[in-house]
Amino acid sequence: MSVLTVHLGEYSYDILIESGILSSLGQRCAAVGLVGHVAVITNPTVAALYGDVVHSSLVAAGNMVTIITIPDGEEFKNAATLNSVYDGLIEAGLGRNSYVVALGGGVVGDLAGFAAATYLRGIPFVQVPTTLLAQVDSSVGGKTAIDHPRGKNLIGAFYQPQLVLIDVDTLATLPEREFRAGMAEVVKYGVALDYDFFEYLEQKVKTILAMERECLVEVIHRCCALKAQVVEIDEKESGLRAVLNYGHTLGHALETLAGYRKLVHGEAVAMGMALAVRISIAKGYCSETDGSRIVELIKDFGLSVTPPAVERTSLLDALLKDKKTRNGAINFICNKGIGNYVEEKLLPEQLLVLSRLEV
Ligand SMILES: NC(=O)c1ccc[n+]([C@@H]2O[C@H](COP(=O)([O-])OP(=O)(O)OC[C@H]3O[C@@H](n4cnc5c(N)ncnc54)[C@H](O)[C@@H]3O)[C@@H](O)[C@H]2O)c1
Ligand SMILES: [Zn+2]
Repeated sequence: MSVLTVHLGEYSYDILIESGILSSLGQRCAAVGLVGHVAVITNPTVAALYGDVVHSSLVAAGNMVTIITIPDGEEFKNAATLNSVYDGLIEAGLGRNSYVVALGGGVVGDLAGFAAATYLRGIPFVQVPTTLLAQVDSSVGGKTAIDHPRGKNLIGAFYQPQLVLIDVDTLATLPEREFRAGMAEVVKYGVALDYDFFEYLEQKVKTILAMERECLVEVIHRCCALKAQVVEIDEKESGLRAVLNYGHTLGHALETLAGYRKLVHGEAVAMGMALAVRISIAKGYCSETDGSRIVELIKDFGLSVTPPAVERTSLLDALLKDKKTRNGAINFICNKGIGNYVEEKLLPEQLLVLSRLEV
């Protein structure tokens, strides 16, 4: 089994990555001192696939188990759903000695994590991410949140899990579109932080797309290790953590403007990265050759690099609303060749010109 420790002093925790470990969840929780009353927060899609295994494993380890399901979809990552989760926790009588298991993708993880962070001023929680995006990104790092009608992830807390358990076998049931979208985040780590990993991905495209287990464990391990390194240095996102937004500035804007589910997050990030490559080339940080390698790798994973047509004014508007905007300028992450990055302060208009979204 692949084990990684995220070192955050008294908030340190392990990430376990392996094929077939879902059925040992109960034991693994017990090993970090978690036995008692547990609320498994999940959605109907994931519950139908993995609810029974998780339930049996937790019961076998001596837990009393309450399953709380929330509707499937980002549109339910909101205060109303959170409230229904609090209702469930209160009705089931979860006390201070209980804990939460988040079983699902990033939506479940973010909402369940925030519920755990706030219920009784915080009870322990365990992340069991079942999408590629959640396994390489959202389950690690302790950011929890719900959306507000005015914007995504506006209400949240930094709250670290006690354990992250990743069973790569869960990816077998993931819709292919979601898997490919998750690969955009994987490529992001290589481009912005690790040349060797980027090369590894180039060599393993077929193996990854064939979802060969050992390779998936390796890929997820390396992403989690990179994210952990960043989070260890910058737990509360004061600086370095911004590198994780590589491809996200323009990506987010496109995701919002494309319209509901036209682009899933990773697909928008793939386009955002291709545009970031153009900007990096224009700024002299990246050669044409390296730029092409990045774009080719994104395409190899079946992701499009061609953004949808969006209106200039709405794009500028979306960029200005970005949380990372200061005095109109955006802290934009450029790739420095492959495997390194540099921050540039750029105005939204400059982003459009340099990325050739507007010529
Ligand atoms: N906290 C963070 O640091 C962080 C980072 C990145 C993204 N996020 C958040 O993550 C969310 C997106 O997460 P996501 O991409 O996992 O989406 P998601 O949670 O909506 O999952 C995508 C779909 O896959 C289904 N699904 C999940 N696991 C499955 C499986 N094993 N088999 C079949 N279907 C399965 C889900 O039910 C859902 O329909 C967003 O809300 C985003 O804000 C958070
Ligand atoms: Zn992302």
